[in-house]
Amino acid sequence: MNPIIQVEHFSKRYGDFTAVEDISFTVDEGSIFAFLGPNGAGKSTTINTLCTILDKTEGTLTINGHDVSRERGLVRKDIGIVFQDSTLDAQMTVEENLKYHCAFYKVPKNEVRERIAFALDLVELAQWRRAAVGSLSGGMKRRLSLARALLVPSGGRRLPEGWSMTQRCCFWTNLPPVWTRRPGPMCGNTFSGSRSRRT
Ligand SMILES: Nc1ncnc2c1ncn2[C@@H]1O[C@H](COP(=O)(O)OP(=O)(O)O)[C@@H](O)[C@H]1O
Ligand SMILES: [Mg+2]
Repeated sequence: MNPIIQVEHFSKRYGDFTAVEDISFTVDEGSIFAFLGPNGAGKSTTINTLCTILDKTEGTLTINGHDVSRERGLVRKDIGIVFQDSTLDAQMTVEENLKYHCAFYKVPKNEVRERIAFALDLVELAQWRRAAVGSLSGGMKRRLSLARALLVPSGGRRLPEGWSMTQRCCFWTNLPPVWTRRPGPMCGNTFSGSRSRRT
């Protein structure tokens, strides 16, 4: 198996406080990886560092061979992220949100339509294409966030944060088709059994 995410001796300190101390793990391409722990364990800190949002204190973290500290642009092009809180634009339609994201990520123009259709089909939102995001239910917004993460150019790595049980069920049910069409790893960031607790 080809390691796609590598974390070696990662530590993160906020001032004098050590949030993560010397952790190492590897995620193989095509595998499904769940990153679990109780509140305060350091999951968000680790995932935010992998996503280039935070700086590491020590260690080496790579995604697809790119160093997350030194090659931020390349890493960002290679990952799709589902944030814990919605970052969708409520005023725009479902399709407009996805087109906007494609533009940000410089998806080739001749691929935009197909990618959006694939992603919306996967999360069963195709018939809501022209609906304003503000009119969708919470669960539909989460599914749209997932669809958006699947638009990234490589179509590979997805890092969802803080999903409810229902959303997780939808996600896990829909995962196999994603993997069949676009193999890649996924980092979950949940604590099973804590339905309402934020992770
Ligand atoms: N910006 C910050 N400044 C100081 N401490 C922080 C900051 N962010 C997180 N922490 C602390 O780091 C630890 C790990 O936090 P976090 O990565 O959010 O854990 P998890 O996502 O597993 O709940 C916690 O003790 C938290 O209070
Ligand atoms: Mg967290």
